[in-house]
Amino acid sequence: DTIDAGIFAQLGLSILDPGYLATAVCRSSISYIDGDKGILRYRGYNIEDLAEHSTFLEVAYLLIFGDLPTREQLQTWNTRIMRHTFIHENLVDYLRSFRYDAHPMGMVTSALSAMSTFHPEASTALHGEAIYEDETMVNKQIFRCLGKVPTLAACAYRHRIGRPYNSPSNELGYTENFLYMLDRLSESNYLPNAKLARALDVIFILHADHELNCSTAAMRQMTSTGVDPFICLSGAAAALYGPSHGGANEAALKMLEEIGTVDNIAAFIEDVKNKKRKLMGFGHRVYKSYDPRAKILKKISEEVFAIMGRNHLIDVAVELERIALSDEYFIKRNLYPNVDFYSGIIYKAMGFPTDFFPVLFGIARTSGWLAHWHEQLQEPIPIFRPKQAYDGAAARKYVNIDDRV
Ligand code: ACO
Repeated sequence: DTIDAGIFAQLGLSILDPGYLATAVCRSSISYIDGDKGILRYRGYNIEDLAEHSTFLEVAYLLIFGDLPTREQLQTWNTRIMRHTFIHENLVDYLRSFRYDAHPMGMVTSALSAMSTFHPEASTALHGEAIYEDETMVNKQIFRCLGKVPTLAACAYRHRIGRPYNSPSNELGYTENFLYMLDRLSESNYLPNAKLARALDVIFILHADHELNCSTAAMRQMTSTGVDPFICLSGAAAALYGPSHGGANEAALKMLEEIGTVDNIAAFIEDVKNKKRKLMGFGHRVYKSYDPRAKILKKISEEVFAIMGRNHLIDVAVELERIALSDEYFIKRNLYPNVDFYSGIIYKAMGFPTDFFPVLFGIARTSGWLAHWHEQLQEPIPIFRPKQAYDGAAARKYVNIDDRV
């Protein structure tokens, strides 16, 4: 508070901080992480309590508006969001126009930016940023985004498997409706198994926000330009598409498949210790103890296997974790399972194709992205413009093309 950023700028005082690893670019009261103690809280509530007692939509409300909703507020919130699940027919046609094997994350990212053209009244480029001084206008976009993202994801999924798109069913819960549109994990008449729908709902809670991860930073960076939330979400989803961000659970799953059986773990661990391999799904920039989300996911995996049948990869994962956590190499480096260690096995057990994993992550993270958008509207930050440390050529004399060697 006491430091005037302008003085720093005048004095030219700045640090070289690649990837902003040591720079806080905003204040936020949305999520709190204590990486040493393995604590994650949304708006002050422990992730364990939210995963046990809340629904995903309730958590989305908490993240965006700061408090848990009353029963009445929750009912209105659920109804509003579920009323916005339908997408324009032309947007369905747009999704149909992709190649049969288009990556679902590419389709969803594109459809999110296309949404901007279907809701021009929300465009700051057309109407100015002042439109977001109106709370109704802000809330409308939140309902739209949360309502429509699962529908876009379901369209992308159905397109990939060459099946017709299913309209949303607004009487169902948020995650139930998503599974209904996919026609996945159905018991009868497209209606999903309630326990599996709840398991996925909890997984969405665990992935809803994680302070300034790369995609959320992208969301905030784009928000700082004043562009509409659909375009911002598209930018955030594009960042999530990157294998270092949204794709680590796929890498963890591939690693477990490659290890194959419990007998091969010891040799694999030796390769990791000899720096020939990395233990995917282990280690975290922030968590230097057990990622609290991984603990909950481990429990969920057992619940899912009880219904879907046990996948032998869970035995490999549990034994790998047991061996690693009792090995000096991993203990000394504070390497513990992260959120990606168990999520891939669960998604596989639920029958999702691997390239759909980041889409599932994106549906959940939309709530966090919107919470940061909302917070930034209330506490605007100047347009992001990080400095660079130029280390290129000094001034050079222009050389005509015939004289170049
Ligand atoms: N397997 C084996 N060794 C590891 C691993 C790992 N997964 N992660 C870190 N180490 C070792 C490093 O080799 C290094 O050893 P050294 O001191 O002998 O050189 C030491 O631990 C510290 O490593 P750093 O790279 O400094 O740790 P950092 O905290 O920067 O890395 C990261 C975090 C990038 C997540 C890393 O642990 C990793 O690559 N993990 C595997 C990929 C993964 O699971 N990513 C998902 C993260 S969660 C998310 O993004 C949603």
